[in-house]
Amino acid sequence: MTQDTETNPTDTDAAPSATIKSYRQRFKTFTAIPAVGRDRGDVLAEMEEMKSLEDRGWEGGHASGCVYHGDKEHVDFLNKVYAINSQTNPLHADLWPSAVKFESEIVAMTANMLGAAESGAEPGTPEEICGVVSAGGSESIQLAMKTYRDYARDKRGITRPEMIVPTTAHAAFDKAAQYFGIEGIHIPVGDDFRADVAATEKAITDNTIVIVGSAPPFPHGLIDPIEELSELARARGIGFHTDACLGGFVLPWAEKLGYDVPPFDFRLPGVTSMSADTHKFGYAAKGTSVVLYRGHELRRYQYFTTTEWPGGFYCSPSFAGSRPGALSAECWAAMVTIGEEGYLDATRRILETATKIKKGIADIPELYVIGDPLFVIAFGATELDIYKVMDAMTERGWSLNGLYKPACVHLCTTLRHTQPGVAERFIDDLKASVAHVKANPSAQGGQAPMYGMANTIPDRGVIADAMTKYLDNLYRLS
Ligand SMILES: Cc1ncc(COP(=O)(O)O)c(C=O)c1O
Repeated sequence: MTQDTETNPTDTDAAPSATIKSYRQRFKTFTAIPAVGRDRGDVLAEMEEMKSLEDRGWEGGHASGCVYHGDKEHVDFLNKVYAINSQTNPLHADLWPSAVKFESEIVAMTANMLGAAESGAEPGTPEEICGVVSAGGSESIQLAMKTYRDYARDKRGITRPEMIVPTTAHAAFDKAAQYFGIEGIHIPVGDDFRADVAATEKAITDNTIVIVGSAPPFPHGLIDPIEELSELARARGIGFHTDACLGGFVLPWAEKLGYDVPPFDFRLPGVTSMSADTHKFGYAAKGTSVVLYRGHELRRYQYFTTTEWPGGFYCSPSFAGSRPGALSAECWAAMVTIGEEGYLDATRRILETATKIKKGIADIPELYVIGDPLFVIAFGATELDIYKVMDAMTERGWSLNGLYKPACVHLCTTLRHTQPGVAERFIDDLKASVAHVKANPSAQGGQAPMYGMANTIPDRGVIADAMTKYLDNLYRLS
């Protein structure tokens, strides 16, 4: 259900569960600001203790996605960069021109990587590929959808906006639909698990403001037919957004390394916006992403400006007001220190590891890989409950993502998995997990019942309720 988190959606019982509230007994709980401040050394020691417990979850390569780089030297460097820039705030550009430099260059470098130079739009002109740094993939997506809504209202008089989104596109598109009053029209994926072009064409109406494709989508990692989809949009003067949150910092390098990567970026004339996450395979710390637009005019619909506020003339490019400039500094520092050479090497290692893992899964007779993905490997089972296999993997220390429609599980390969022996350990544990489930087919517990239910019951209100309780629990103290 979730990604980029270690959360457990079954932690929905009345009392906060051991998994997400595991520190209740171990550390003092603060329900009010302490009368006298605590000793800094004690606070640091406590945090070091939590960190050492939590690092175990991902350092050795047991988690799907989540931490994309994580090498100590890289993390130490980013932490130094954060420390130098911790007081900066891009909202006050006059005080911190460094933040302006970092963010404009992050956008330029990302645009360049994603085909700006071959987009047909001259750099330095109002038609150029331009963008904004956001706080993450979901924010980039929401910003883009809000932008299309406002653009379409202004230019085309659309007051009942619709966006066409493949079912495999990230949940952030539904969130945008909910937040901004846009109707999300969901298009099924074909037998190949990629967006259905014919169904998309049929779904276009006079109210369509944008069509979406992902490169790749989170669930099965299989890149949508972006060329065909973006052409449908271009022919009708509709916007097209490529969500490359996951693949934006992998696919350009994969292509250079000779992998078969279908066109997905601004080299396609119909692509009018993109999202690409620096905090995933850009190897920046968590908290940055880039949203790009074809031309300044479109980007302007993202901005907020007011001249009426007694607090002064106010403008901001994205949802936040004050923002952590240190995260942009870290992001910039990651990009310029890794360089093309570093990204190519990282991508080569990830794709070679993913190939090994894919083959290992395909060789297990009870399992099958969905399609031929590059680095997000989804797999199902022929005669077993795949969620029980996932639970058995959890028992062995792995943190995989459960998916449904169809019932499957995925591993998003990152640099953590390229460490020696990780791919082999994954396959060995997977074989052992399959054997365990075969030997104990009726064992209960774990996440299997929840996912099993999601696959079978048409009314998922129960599960939605459970998720709401789960969110409540995050903030409960007792
Ligand atoms: C394809 C895709 N788009 C968007 C997102 C959302 O990114 P974030 O979790 O940074 O908001 C993700 C996250 O995994 C993703 O895989």
